Amino acid sequence: MNTVSVEILKDLFYMGVNDRETNLFENMWPLPQGVSYNSYLIVDEKTALMDTVKITKVDGFIDSLKDNLNGKKLDYLVIHHMEPDHSGCIKTVRELYPDVVLVGNKKARGMISDYLDIEIGDNFLEVKDGDVLELGRRKLTFVNTPMVHWPESMVSYEPNDKILFSQDIFGGFGALNGTIFDDEMNFDFFQDEMRRYYSNIVGKYSKQAAKALEKVRNLDVKVICPVHGIVWRTNPERIIEEYVKYANQINEEGVVVVYGSMYGNTEKMADILARFLAEEGIKNVKIFDVSKTHDSYILSEIWKYKGVILGSCTYNNSVYPNMNQLLYTLKMNKINNHILGIFGSYGWSGGAVKELSEFASEGGNFEVLPTIVETKGTAKDEDIEALRQLAKEMAQALRA
Ligand SMILES: Cc1cc2nc3c(=O)[nH]c(=O)nc-3n(C[C@H](O)[C@H](O)[C@H](O)COP(=O)(O)O)c2cc1C
Ligand SMILES: [Fe+2]
Ligand SMILES: [Fe+2]
Repeated sequence: MNTVSVEILKDLFYMGVNDRETNLFENMWPLPQGVSYNSYLIVDEKTALMDTVKITKVDGFIDSLKDNLNGKKLDYLVIHHMEPDHSGCIKTVRELYPDVVLVGNKKARGMISDYLDIEIGDNFLEVKDGDVLELGRRKLTFVNTPMVHWPESMVSYEPNDKILFSQDIFGGFGALNGTIFDDEMNFDFFQDEMRRYYSNIVGKYSKQAAKALEKVRNLDVKVICPVHGIVWRTNPERIIEEYVKYANQINEEGVVVVYGSMYGNTEKMADILARFLAEEGIKNVKIFDVSKTHDSYILSEIWKYKGVILGSCTYNNSVYPNMNQLLYTLKMNKINNHILGIFGSYGWSGGAVKELSEFASEGGNFEVLPTIVETKGTAKDEDIEALRQLAKEMAQALRA
């Protein structure tokens, strides 16, 4: 029953739920601080519900919907995105308001039958890019944003109050802890969780995200209502700028050192390297043990900083399995505009550094640093000097 309902502007209601039970979003991404699913209701001559929430939260959501409708019937349910964290309660809403007209694009229509197995018949209004739905004082213009996050994804814009219903775009992890609006909260925590959401959920589709942002930038937006996280009513420009950086992989000076190590030889190299980076004046250096920190956090930090240095021990002639998982994640999300350094340790015939080098040439768009440090067992004086050289090359490349 944890639906939070707040009137954002006159006759525009926020109806979001906080999910602090789910451990893994999409059964993959840790949610230590939860996540919110946001829905919105416009009450005008016609009433329109903008998306729903995950089915596990249906009870509180429906109570809130009835409260805000205050005896009116629901005319439209606008479906911006069919992923079940937002489409979960469509069936229930239809049971309650059998005449409700579902509004979506052609792809959404197909997905409604595919996923919900319901006959929508005439109760569907198919909208194309640029179509307008009149609600009374307010109206909605639809803009397709394919692949951000799914093929049917679209946003809608209300020109009178300049509201953008942005679905997954501008969303983030993190439940809303009483504060809902950008002007009510400290953005630092959400910034990390937004970038983690972006890089892991949308990152692969950054080209499409950049296109979607161009469309959004042509609109005069005063309020952004996304389906996860913060509602931006005071400074929407801030999150638009932040997203432009994410989508174009515009990053900051800093280095993420990630290592995979069983007995500490590779870890020791990571610590030495980080010290040398600090001596080179690099202020943002973050070290991660790939076996300890979930990939989603590592990817998010890599999205933030321009430098990446990957180190792996050799395991059965190959890169360490947990590092292999990270390489897969990096490849999947098409890392661009980064500088990459490589190091590793082996016992007899090696293999890890060779695979890291193969990854460097095919796993993304990297500038690869020439000094690659590979030690047999523990790092000796000459290896330490090579690590110093690698740190110097990284610092130079970052400042070039
Ligand atoms: C289970 C296991 C498998 C290994 N497989 C290989 C291998 O196939 N080839 C090789 O050169 N070294 C292999 N090694 C040796 C390690 O790569 C070497 O000891 C390295 O220094 C370990 O680094 P670490 O202390 O960071 O874990 C293996 C070590 C272990 C424990
Ligand atoms: Fe989604
Ligand atoms: Fe979502």
